[in-house]
Amino acid sequence: AGEHEFVVVANRLPVDITIEDDGSLSWERSPGGLVTALAPLMQKNGGGWVGWSGKVGFEHEPFDAEGMRLCPVPLSEGEIARYYEGFSNATLWPLYHDVIVPPEFHRAWWNTYTSVNRRFATAAAEAVAPGGTVWVHDYQLQLVPSVLRMLRPDVKIGFFNHIPFPPVEIFTQLPWRHQVVEGLLGADLVGFQRPGDASNFLRAVRRLTDLQVRGPQVTVPGRWSRPDRAVRAQAFPISIDSTAFEELARRPDVLERAKQIRVELGSPDVLLLGVDRLDYTKGIRHRLKAFGELLEDGQLRVPEACMVQVASPSRERVEQYKTLRDEVEVTVGRINGDYGALGRAAVHYLHHSYPATEMAALYRAADVMLVTSLRDGMNLVAKEYVAARSDLGGALVLSEFTGAADELTHALTINPHDIDGTKATVMRAVNMDRKESRRRMRGLRRRVMQHDVQRWADDFLGYLAMSVPPPPDLR
Ligand code: G6P
Repeated sequence: AGEHEFVVVANRLPVDITIEDDGSLSWERSPGGLVTALAPLMQKNGGGWVGWSGKVGFEHEPFDAEGMRLCPVPLSEGEIARYYEGFSNATLWPLYHDVIVPPEFHRAWWNTYTSVNRRFATAAAEAVAPGGTVWVHDYQLQLVPSVLRMLRPDVKIGFFNHIPFPPVEIFTQLPWRHQVVEGLLGADLVGFQRPGDASNFLRAVRRLTDLQVRGPQVTVPGRWSRPDRAVRAQAFPISIDSTAFEELARRPDVLERAKQIRVELGSPDVLLLGVDRLDYTKGIRHRLKAFGELLEDGQLRVPEACMVQVASPSRERVEQYKTLRDEVEVTVGRINGDYGALGRAAVHYLHHSYPATEMAALYRAADVMLVTSLRDGMNLVAKEYVAARSDLGGALVLSEFTGAADELTHALTINPHDIDGTKATVMRAVNMDRKESRRRMRGLRRRVMQHDVQRWADDFLGYLAMSVPPPPDLR
Protein backbone atom coordinates (compact mmCIF):
# COMPACT_ATOMS: atom_id res chain seq x y z
CA ALA A 1 0.00 0.00 0.00
CA GLY A 2 1.02 3.57 -0.61
CA GLU A 3 0.66 6.74 1.41
CA HIS A 4 -1.99 8.74 -0.40
CA GLU A 5 -5.49 8.99 1.05
CA PHE A 6 -6.79 10.25 -2.29
CA VAL A 7 -5.57 9.22 -5.72
CA VAL A 8 -6.74 10.39 -9.14
CA VAL A 9 -6.15 8.16 -12.16
CA ALA A 10 -6.49 9.75 -15.60
CA ASN A 11 -4.92 9.11 -18.98
CA ARG A 12 -3.02 12.39 -18.76
CA LEU A 13 -1.14 13.98 -15.88
CA PRO A 14 -2.37 17.50 -15.09
CA VAL A 15 0.92 19.11 -16.21
CA ASP A 16 2.84 19.66 -19.44
CA ILE A 17 6.32 18.36 -18.80
CA THR A 18 9.48 19.69 -20.43
CA ILE A 19 12.80 17.91 -20.11
CA GLU A 20 15.52 20.58 -19.92
CA ASP A 21 18.92 20.23 -21.63
CA ASP A 22 20.55 19.16 -18.36
CA GLY A 23 17.98 16.37 -18.01
CA SER A 24 16.00 18.06 -15.23
CA LEU A 25 12.22 18.38 -15.38
CA SER A 26 10.10 21.44 -15.53
CA TRP A 27 6.32 21.56 -15.83
CA GLU A 28 3.38 23.85 -16.23
CA ARG A 29 -0.11 23.10 -15.00
CA SER A 30 -2.32 22.10 -17.94
CA PRO A 31 -5.42 24.16 -18.60
CA GLY A 32 -8.66 22.47 -17.61
CA GLY A 33 -11.06 22.36 -14.73
CA LEU A 34 -10.37 18.91 -13.36
CA VAL A 35 -7.07 19.77 -11.73
CA THR A 36 -8.44 23.12 -10.53
CA ALA A 37 -11.33 21.38 -8.80
CA LEU A 38 -9.21 18.67 -7.25
CA ALA A 39 -6.08 20.66 -6.34
CA PRO A 40 -7.39 21.93 -2.96
CA LEU A 41 -8.40 18.42 -1.91
CA MET A 42 -5.10 17.02 -3.17
CA GLN A 43 -3.10 19.62 -1.29
CA LYS A 44 -5.03 19.07 1.91
CA ASN A 45 -4.84 15.29 1.86
CA GLY A 46 -1.49 14.83 0.15
CA GLY A 47 -3.09 13.44 -2.98
CA GLY A 48 -1.51 11.49 -5.80
CA TRP A 49 -2.21 11.64 -9.53
CA VAL A 50 -1.47 8.66 -11.77
CA GLY A 51 -1.27 9.45 -15.50
CA TRP A 52 0.67 9.50 -18.76
CA SER A 53 3.10 12.37 -19.30
CA GLY A 54 2.13 12.75 -22.98
CA LYS A 55 5.69 11.81 -24.00
CA VAL A 56 6.80 8.57 -25.62
CA GLY A 57 8.53 6.21 -23.20
CA PHE A 58 8.84 8.81 -20.42
CA GLU A 59 9.81 6.93 -17.26
CA HIS A 60 10.24 8.77 -14.01
CA GLU A 61 9.87 8.21 -10.30
CA PRO A 62 6.85 9.88 -8.70
CA PHE A 63 7.60 13.56 -8.06
CA ASP A 64 5.96 16.50 -6.32
CA ALA A 65 4.39 19.25 -8.40
CA GLU A 66 1.51 21.68 -7.84
CA GLY A 67 1.12 20.47 -4.27
CA MET A 68 0.53 16.83 -5.18
CA ARG A 69 2.47 13.70 -6.01
CA LEU A 70 2.55 12.93 -9.74
CA CYS A 71 3.09 9.29 -10.70
CA PRO A 72 3.94 9.00 -14.41
CA VAL A 73 2.84 5.84 -16.24
CA PRO A 74 5.18 5.16 -19.17
CA LEU A 75 3.76 4.32 -22.62
CA SER A 76 5.86 3.02 -25.50
CA GLU A 77 5.38 4.09 -29.14
CA GLY A 78 3.46 0.86 -29.86
CA GLU A 79 1.24 1.35 -26.80
CA ILE A 80 0.43 4.90 -27.82
CA ALA A 81 -0.53 3.59 -31.28
CA ARG A 82 -2.71 0.71 -30.00
CA TYR A 83 -4.03 1.88 -26.61
CA TYR A 84 -4.35 5.67 -27.11
CA GLU A 85 -4.72 6.33 -30.85
CA GLY A 86 -6.19 2.90 -31.59
CA PHE A 87 -8.56 1.48 -29.00
CA SER A 88 -9.30 4.71 -27.11
CA ASN A 89 -9.63 7.08 -30.04
CA ALA A 90 -10.46 4.97 -33.11
CA THR A 91 -12.65 2.34 -31.36
CA LEU A 92 -14.25 3.74 -28.19
CA TRP A 93 -14.38 7.44 -29.11
CA PRO A 94 -16.44 6.96 -32.31
CA LEU A 95 -18.49 4.10 -30.77
CA TYR A 96 -19.44 6.24 -27.77
CA HIS A 97 -20.22 9.26 -29.98
CA ASP A 98 -23.09 7.79 -32.00
CA VAL A 99 -20.84 6.12 -34.62
CA ILE A 100 -20.38 9.45 -36.44
CA VAL A 101 -17.44 7.70 -38.11
CA PRO A 102 -17.14 3.91 -38.15
CA PRO A 103 -15.30 2.50 -35.12
CA GLU A 104 -12.53 0.02 -35.88
CA PHE A 105 -12.28 -3.21 -33.94
CA HIS A 106 -8.82 -4.78 -33.69
CA ARG A 107 -7.88 -7.50 -31.26
CA ALA A 108 -4.30 -6.24 -30.98
CA TRP A 109 -5.61 -2.82 -29.89
CA TRP A 110 -7.84 -4.42 -27.29
CA ASN A 111 -4.95 -6.50 -25.92
CA THR A 112 -2.84 -3.40 -25.45
CA TYR A 113 -5.80 -1.54 -23.90
CA THR A 114 -6.07 -4.27 -21.26
CA SER A 115 -2.35 -4.36 -20.50
CA VAL A 116 -2.08 -0.59 -20.25
CA ASN A 117 -5.19 -0.44 -18.03
CA ARG A 118 -3.53 -3.02 -15.77
CA ARG A 119 -0.44 -0.82 -15.56
CA PHE A 120 -2.52 2.22 -14.49
CA ALA A 121 -4.37 0.09 -11.92
CA THR A 122 -1.10 -1.24 -10.50
CA ALA A 123 0.33 2.26 -10.19
CA ALA A 124 -2.85 3.37 -8.38
CA ALA A 125 -2.69 0.33 -6.06
CA GLU A 126 0.87 1.26 -5.15
CA ALA A 127 0.00 4.89 -4.48
CA VAL A 128 -3.18 4.63 -2.38
CA ALA A 129 -3.14 4.36 1.41
CA PRO A 130 -5.06 1.63 3.27
CA GLY A 131 -8.78 2.41 3.16
CA GLY A 132 -8.14 5.38 0.83
CA THR A 133 -10.11 6.63 -2.17
CA VAL A 134 -9.28 6.34 -5.87
CA TRP A 135 -11.06 8.34 -8.56
CA VAL A 136 -10.62 6.96 -12.09
CA HIS A 137 -11.41 9.13 -15.12
CA ASP A 138 -12.75 8.52 -18.59
CA TYR A 139 -13.07 6.00 -21.39
CA GLN A 140 -9.35 5.30 -21.75
CA LEU A 141 -9.37 3.56 -18.35
CA GLN A 142 -12.61 1.60 -18.07
CA LEU A 143 -10.90 -1.60 -16.88
CA VAL A 144 -9.01 0.09 -14.05
CA PRO A 145 -11.83 -0.18 -11.45
CA SER A 146 -12.11 -3.99 -11.59
CA VAL A 147 -8.34 -4.60 -11.71
CA LEU A 148 -7.79 -2.18 -8.86
CA ARG A 149 -10.48 -3.86 -6.77
CA MET A 150 -8.71 -7.21 -7.12
CA LEU A 151 -5.42 -5.65 -6.05
CA ARG A 152 -6.87 -3.44 -3.33
CA PRO A 153 -10.28 -4.58 -2.03
CA ASP A 154 -9.86 -2.13 0.87
CA VAL A 155 -10.20 1.10 -1.14
CA LYS A 156 -13.19 3.11 -2.35
CA ILE A 157 -13.27 3.39 -6.11
CA GLY A 158 -15.10 6.03 -8.12
CA PHE A 159 -15.22 6.21 -11.92
CA PHE A 160 -16.35 9.19 -14.00
CA ASN A 161 -17.01 8.92 -17.73
CA HIS A 162 -16.45 12.33 -19.36
CA ILE A 163 -17.94 11.32 -22.71
CA PRO A 164 -21.38 9.93 -23.57
CA PHE A 165 -22.27 6.33 -22.78
CA PRO A 166 -23.94 4.96 -25.91
CA PRO A 167 -27.34 3.30 -26.30
CA VAL A 168 -27.19 -0.45 -25.77
CA GLU A 169 -27.81 -1.16 -29.49
CA ILE A 170 -24.54 0.60 -30.28
CA PHE A 171 -22.55 -0.46 -27.22
CA THR A 172 -23.20 -4.13 -27.89
CA GLN A 173 -21.30 -3.86 -31.20
CA LEU A 174 -18.14 -3.87 -29.11
CA PRO A 175 -16.64 -7.37 -29.16
CA TRP A 176 -15.37 -6.82 -25.59
CA ARG A 177 -18.62 -5.36 -24.19
CA HIS A 178 -18.75 -7.85 -21.31
CA GLN A 179 -15.23 -7.03 -20.16
CA VAL A 180 -15.90 -3.27 -20.30
CA VAL A 181 -19.08 -3.55 -18.23
CA GLU A 182 -17.31 -5.77 -15.71
CA GLY A 183 -14.40 -3.33 -15.62
CA LEU A 184 -16.69 -0.44 -14.69
CA LEU A 185 -18.60 -2.50 -12.14
CA GLY A 186 -15.37 -2.71 -10.15
CA ALA A 187 -16.19 0.82 -8.96
CA ASP A 188 -18.50 1.74 -6.06
CA LEU A 189 -19.84 4.74 -7.95
CA VAL A 190 -19.95 5.15 -11.74
CA GLY A 191 -20.63 8.75 -12.75
CA PHE A 192 -21.86 10.05 -16.09
CA GLN A 193 -22.57 13.46 -17.62
CA ARG A 194 -26.30 13.02 -18.25
CA PRO A 195 -29.04 10.87 -16.72
CA GLY A 196 -29.44 9.32 -20.19
CA ASP A 197 -25.84 8.08 -20.10
CA ALA A 198 -26.39 6.47 -16.69
CA SER A 199 -29.54 4.72 -17.92
CA ASN A 200 -27.76 3.54 -21.08
CA PHE A 201 -25.13 1.98 -18.84
CA LEU A 202 -27.72 0.35 -16.57
CA ARG A 203 -29.49 -1.03 -19.62
CA ALA A 204 -26.19 -2.51 -20.81
CA VAL A 205 -25.72 -4.12 -17.39
CA ARG A 206 -29.20 -5.65 -17.62
CA ARG A 207 -28.63 -6.89 -21.16
CA LEU A 208 -25.15 -8.29 -20.67
CA THR A 209 -25.17 -9.66 -17.12
CA ASP A 210 -27.68 -11.39 -14.88
CA LEU A 211 -26.95 -9.02 -12.01
CA GLN A 212 -29.80 -7.44 -10.11
CA VAL A 213 -30.44 -3.80 -11.08
CA ARG A 214 -32.75 -1.73 -8.88
CA GLY A 215 -33.11 1.94 -9.74
CA PRO A 216 -29.56 3.35 -9.96
CA GLN A 217 -28.09 0.41 -8.05
CA VAL A 218 -26.49 -2.83 -9.27
CA THR A 219 -25.81 -5.64 -6.80
CA VAL A 220 -22.54 -7.46 -7.47
CA PRO A 221 -22.08 -10.74 -5.58
CA GLY A 222 -18.95 -10.79 -3.43
CA ARG A 223 -16.21 -13.15 -4.50
CA TRP A 224 -14.41 -15.49 -2.15
CA SER A 225 -17.09 -15.27 0.55
CA ARG A 226 -17.00 -11.47 0.62
CA PRO A 227 -20.38 -9.79 1.07
CA ASP A 228 -22.33 -8.43 -1.92
CA ARG A 229 -21.46 -4.96 -3.15
CA ALA A 230 -23.71 -2.20 -4.39
CA VAL A 231 -22.56 -0.21 -7.43
CA ARG A 232 -24.34 3.05 -8.07
CA ALA A 233 -24.67 4.66 -11.53
CA GLN A 234 -25.68 8.31 -11.61
CA ALA A 235 -25.32 11.59 -13.51
CA PHE A 236 -22.95 14.32 -12.28
CA PRO A 237 -22.76 17.00 -15.01
CA ILE A 238 -19.23 18.44 -15.04
CA SER A 239 -18.55 22.16 -15.14
CA ILE A 240 -15.77 24.75 -15.16
CA ASP A 241 -14.16 27.00 -12.58
CA SER A 242 -16.89 29.55 -13.31
CA THR A 243 -15.79 32.33 -10.95
CA ALA A 244 -12.18 32.18 -12.06
CA PHE A 245 -13.26 32.35 -15.69
CA GLU A 246 -15.61 35.24 -15.06
CA GLU A 247 -12.87 37.15 -13.25
CA LEU A 248 -10.41 36.49 -16.03
CA ALA A 249 -12.89 37.76 -18.61
CA ARG A 250 -13.33 40.97 -16.57
CA ARG A 251 -9.66 41.85 -16.43
CA PRO A 252 -8.91 45.20 -18.09
CA ASP A 253 -6.20 43.69 -20.32
CA VAL A 254 -8.65 41.01 -21.51
CA LEU A 255 -11.37 43.58 -22.25
CA GLU A 256 -8.81 45.68 -24.09
CA ARG A 257 -7.78 42.64 -26.12
CA ALA A 258 -11.45 41.89 -26.92
CA LYS A 259 -11.82 45.37 -28.42
CA GLN A 260 -8.59 45.00 -30.31
CA ILE A 261 -9.74 41.65 -31.77
CA ARG A 262 -12.82 43.31 -33.24
CA VAL A 263 -10.71 46.06 -34.74
CA GLU A 264 -8.25 43.57 -36.19
CA LEU A 265 -11.17 41.77 -37.82
CA GLY A 266 -12.25 45.01 -39.51
CA SER A 267 -14.87 46.06 -36.95
CA PRO A 268 -17.65 43.77 -38.16
CA ASP A 269 -21.25 44.29 -37.02
CA VAL A 270 -21.61 40.58 -36.39
CA LEU A 271 -18.86 38.32 -35.13
CA LEU A 272 -19.62 34.60 -35.01
CA LEU A 273 -17.30 32.32 -33.05
CA GLY A 274 -16.56 28.60 -32.94
CA VAL A 275 -14.03 27.06 -30.53
CA ASP A 276 -13.33 23.34 -30.59
CA ARG A 277 -10.73 20.65 -30.60
CA LEU A 278 -10.51 19.69 -34.28
CA ASP A 279 -12.77 16.65 -33.83
CA TYR A 280 -15.50 15.19 -36.04
CA THR A 281 -17.91 15.10 -33.09
CA LYS A 282 -17.98 18.92 -32.98
CA GLY A 283 -19.98 19.46 -36.18
CA ILE A 284 -17.49 22.00 -37.57
CA ARG A 285 -18.36 21.07 -41.16
CA HIS A 286 -22.08 21.47 -40.49
CA ARG A 287 -21.43 24.88 -38.94
CA LEU A 288 -19.34 25.98 -41.94
CA LYS A 289 -22.00 24.71 -44.32
CA ALA A 290 -24.67 26.79 -42.58
CA PHE A 291 -22.44 29.89 -42.52
CA GLY A 292 -21.47 29.44 -46.19
CA GLU A 293 -25.13 29.22 -47.20
CA LEU A 294 -26.03 32.33 -45.19
CA LEU A 295 -23.38 34.20 -47.21
CA GLU A 296 -24.63 32.65 -50.44
CA ASP A 297 -28.24 33.63 -49.69
CA GLY A 298 -27.10 37.14 -48.80
CA GLN A 299 -28.57 36.89 -45.31
CA LEU A 300 -25.07 37.66 -44.05
CA ARG A 301 -22.42 39.65 -45.90
CA VAL A 302 -18.67 40.13 -45.62
CA PRO A 303 -17.24 42.39 -44.19
CA GLU A 304 -20.27 43.26 -42.01
CA ALA A 305 -20.25 39.69 -40.75
CA CYS A 306 -17.39 37.28 -40.22
CA MET A 307 -16.62 34.12 -38.35
CA VAL A 308 -13.65 33.07 -36.24
CA GLN A 309 -13.09 29.34 -35.96
CA VAL A 310 -10.48 28.19 -33.47
CA ALA A 311 -9.78 24.50 -34.14
CA SER A 312 -7.11 23.30 -31.76
CA PRO A 313 -4.93 20.44 -33.00
CA SER A 314 -5.97 17.05 -31.62
CA ARG A 315 -5.05 13.36 -32.13
CA GLU A 316 -3.32 14.24 -35.37
CA ARG A 317 -2.01 10.78 -36.14
CA VAL A 318 -5.49 9.19 -36.16
CA GLU A 319 -6.75 8.77 -39.75
CA GLN A 320 -10.25 10.22 -39.24
CA TYR A 321 -8.76 13.37 -37.72
CA LYS A 322 -6.47 13.86 -40.72
CA THR A 323 -9.43 13.46 -43.07
CA LEU A 324 -11.49 15.91 -41.04
CA ARG A 325 -8.71 18.48 -41.09
CA ASP A 326 -8.46 18.26 -44.88
CA GLU A 327 -12.23 18.63 -45.28
CA VAL A 328 -12.48 21.58 -42.92
CA GLU A 329 -9.57 23.34 -44.56
CA VAL A 330 -10.94 22.82 -48.07
CA THR A 331 -14.32 24.18 -46.93
CA VAL A 332 -12.80 27.25 -45.25
CA GLY A 333 -10.73 27.90 -48.38
CA ARG A 334 -13.79 27.64 -50.59
CA ILE A 335 -15.89 29.98 -48.45
CA ASN A 336 -13.10 32.54 -48.32
CA GLY A 337 -12.49 32.19 -52.06
CA ASP A 338 -16.16 32.74 -52.84
CA TYR A 339 -17.13 35.40 -50.30
CA GLY A 340 -13.96 37.01 -48.95
CA ALA A 341 -12.35 40.18 -50.24
CA LEU A 342 -8.81 41.57 -50.10
CA GLY A 343 -7.85 41.78 -46.45
CA ARG A 344 -11.36 40.63 -45.47
CA ALA A 345 -11.73 36.91 -44.83
CA ALA A 346 -15.18 35.43 -44.26
CA VAL A 347 -13.79 32.74 -41.96
CA HIS A 348 -10.70 33.32 -39.84
CA TYR A 349 -9.53 29.77 -39.28
CA LEU A 350 -6.93 29.16 -36.56
CA HIS A 351 -5.37 25.74 -36.12
CA HIS A 352 -3.76 26.56 -32.75
CA SER A 353 -4.43 26.34 -29.06
CA TYR A 354 -4.50 29.60 -27.14
CA PRO A 355 -4.04 30.51 -23.48
CA ALA A 356 -7.16 31.13 -21.41
CA THR A 357 -6.70 34.93 -21.56
CA GLU A 358 -6.97 34.97 -25.36
CA MET A 359 -9.97 32.64 -25.24
CA ALA A 360 -11.69 34.89 -22.70
CA ALA A 361 -11.06 37.90 -24.96
CA LEU A 362 -12.52 36.04 -27.96
CA TYR A 363 -15.62 35.11 -25.96
CA ARG A 364 -16.05 38.74 -24.94
CA ALA A 365 -15.59 39.88 -28.53
CA ALA A 366 -18.09 37.45 -30.09
CA ASP A 367 -21.73 38.30 -30.70
CA VAL A 368 -22.81 34.73 -31.36
CA MET A 369 -21.16 31.59 -30.02
CA LEU A 370 -21.76 28.50 -32.16
CA VAL A 371 -21.65 25.08 -30.48
CA THR A 372 -22.87 22.60 -33.08
CA SER A 373 -21.65 19.20 -31.82
CA LEU A 374 -23.22 16.11 -33.38
CA ARG A 375 -22.62 14.41 -30.03
CA ASP A 376 -20.78 15.77 -26.98
CA GLY A 377 -20.56 14.46 -23.41
CA MET A 378 -20.89 17.97 -21.95
CA ASN A 379 -19.15 20.79 -23.94
CA LEU A 380 -17.35 23.13 -21.61
CA VAL A 381 -16.80 25.78 -24.30
CA ALA A 382 -20.51 26.64 -23.97
CA LYS A 383 -20.09 27.08 -20.22
CA GLU A 384 -16.91 29.14 -20.63
CA TYR A 385 -18.70 31.49 -23.00
CA VAL A 386 -21.51 31.98 -20.49
CA ALA A 387 -19.10 32.52 -17.58
CA ALA A 388 -17.18 35.10 -19.62
CA ARG A 389 -20.31 37.16 -20.41
CA SER A 390 -20.85 38.95 -17.11
CA ASP A 391 -21.80 41.93 -19.33
CA LEU A 392 -24.90 39.87 -20.32
CA GLY A 393 -23.91 40.40 -23.97
CA GLY A 394 -23.73 37.77 -26.68
CA ALA A 395 -25.92 34.82 -27.64
CA LEU A 396 -25.34 31.10 -27.41
CA VAL A 397 -26.44 28.75 -30.19
CA LEU A 398 -26.19 25.24 -28.75
CA SER A 399 -26.63 21.79 -30.22
CA GLU A 400 -29.26 19.69 -28.50
CA PHE A 401 -26.84 16.75 -28.71
CA THR A 402 -24.53 18.13 -26.03
CA GLY A 403 -24.74 17.30 -22.33
CA ALA A 404 -24.72 21.06 -21.75
CA ALA A 405 -28.11 21.40 -23.49
CA ASP A 406 -29.76 19.53 -20.58
CA GLU A 407 -28.73 22.37 -18.27
CA LEU A 408 -28.45 25.42 -20.53
CA THR A 409 -32.12 25.65 -21.35
CA HIS A 410 -31.91 29.40 -22.04
CA ALA A 411 -29.68 28.84 -25.09
CA LEU A 412 -31.02 28.83 -28.64
CA THR A 413 -30.91 25.11 -29.38
CA ILE A 414 -30.36 23.53 -32.78
CA ASN A 415 -30.23 20.17 -34.47
CA PRO A 416 -26.92 20.61 -36.35
CA HIS A 417 -27.97 18.05 -39.00
CA ASP A 418 -30.81 20.41 -39.95
CA ILE A 419 -28.92 23.04 -41.94
CA ASP A 420 -32.01 25.19 -42.64
CA GLY A 421 -32.98 25.10 -38.97
CA THR A 422 -29.42 26.02 -37.95
CA LYS A 423 -29.36 28.93 -40.43
CA ALA A 424 -32.68 30.24 -39.11
CA THR A 425 -31.47 29.99 -35.51
CA VAL A 426 -28.17 31.73 -36.27
CA MET A 427 -30.13 34.58 -37.86
CA ARG A 428 -32.42 34.67 -34.84
CA ALA A 429 -29.35 35.02 -32.62
CA VAL A 430 -27.89 37.73 -34.89
CA ASN A 431 -31.14 39.73 -34.85
CA MET A 432 -32.21 39.09 -31.28
CA ASP A 433 -33.21 42.21 -29.39
CA ARG A 434 -31.11 43.19 -26.43
CA LYS A 435 -33.84 42.58 -23.92
CA GLU A 436 -34.27 38.96 -24.94
CA SER A 437 -30.56 38.24 -25.22
CA ARG A 438 -29.90 39.69 -21.77
CA ARG A 439 -32.77 37.70 -20.31
CA ARG A 440 -31.40 34.51 -21.83
CA MET A 441 -27.84 35.19 -20.74
CA ARG A 442 -29.03 35.86 -17.21
CA GLY A 443 -30.76 32.46 -17.19
CA LEU A 444 -27.67 30.75 -18.56
CA ARG A 445 -25.44 32.42 -16.01
CA ARG A 446 -27.65 31.43 -13.09
CA ARG A 447 -26.94 27.82 -13.95
CA VAL A 448 -23.23 28.07 -14.82
CA MET A 449 -22.16 30.32 -11.95
CA GLN A 450 -23.87 28.10 -9.36
CA HIS A 451 -22.92 24.70 -10.72
CA ASP A 452 -19.18 24.96 -11.01
CA VAL A 453 -16.54 22.25 -11.15
CA GLN A 454 -15.99 22.42 -7.41
CA ARG A 455 -19.61 21.59 -6.78
CA TRP A 456 -19.35 18.75 -9.31
CA ALA A 457 -16.33 17.22 -7.55
CA ASP A 458 -17.89 17.69 -4.11
CA ASP A 459 -21.12 16.03 -5.28
CA PHE A 460 -19.34 13.06 -6.78
CA LEU A 461 -16.99 12.56 -3.85
CA GLY A 462 -19.87 13.06 -1.40
CA TYR A 463 -21.76 10.16 -2.98
CA LEU A 464 -18.60 8.08 -3.12
CA ALA A 465 -17.94 8.66 0.58
CA MET A 466 -21.47 7.46 1.33
CA SER A 467 -20.97 4.19 -0.54
CA VAL A 468 -20.89 1.26 1.85
CA PRO A 469 -17.39 0.90 3.31
CA PRO A 470 -15.54 -2.39 2.86
CA PRO A 471 -15.68 -4.85 5.78
CA PRO A 472 -13.18 -4.09 8.58
CA ASP A 473 -10.96 -7.10 7.87
CA LEU A 474 -10.11 -5.61 4.48
CA ARG A 475 -9.13 -2.19 5.75
C1 G6P B 1 -11.94 14.78 -24.17
C2 G6P B 1 -11.77 13.55 -23.31
C3 G6P B 1 -10.55 13.66 -22.41
C4 G6P B 1 -9.34 14.06 -23.22
C5 G6P B 1 -9.59 15.33 -24.00
C6 G6P B 1 -8.41 15.73 -24.91
O1 G6P B 1 -12.37 15.85 -23.39
O2 G6P B 1 -12.94 13.31 -22.56
O3 G6P B 1 -10.31 12.44 -21.74
O4 G6P B 1 -8.21 14.23 -22.39
O5 G6P B 1 -10.73 15.13 -24.83
O6 G6P B 1 -8.04 14.69 -25.74
P1 G6P B 1 -6.60 14.00 -25.69
O7 G6P B 1 -6.74 12.78 -26.54
O8 G6P B 1 -5.65 15.00 -26.26
O9 G6P B 1 -6.27 13.68 -24.26
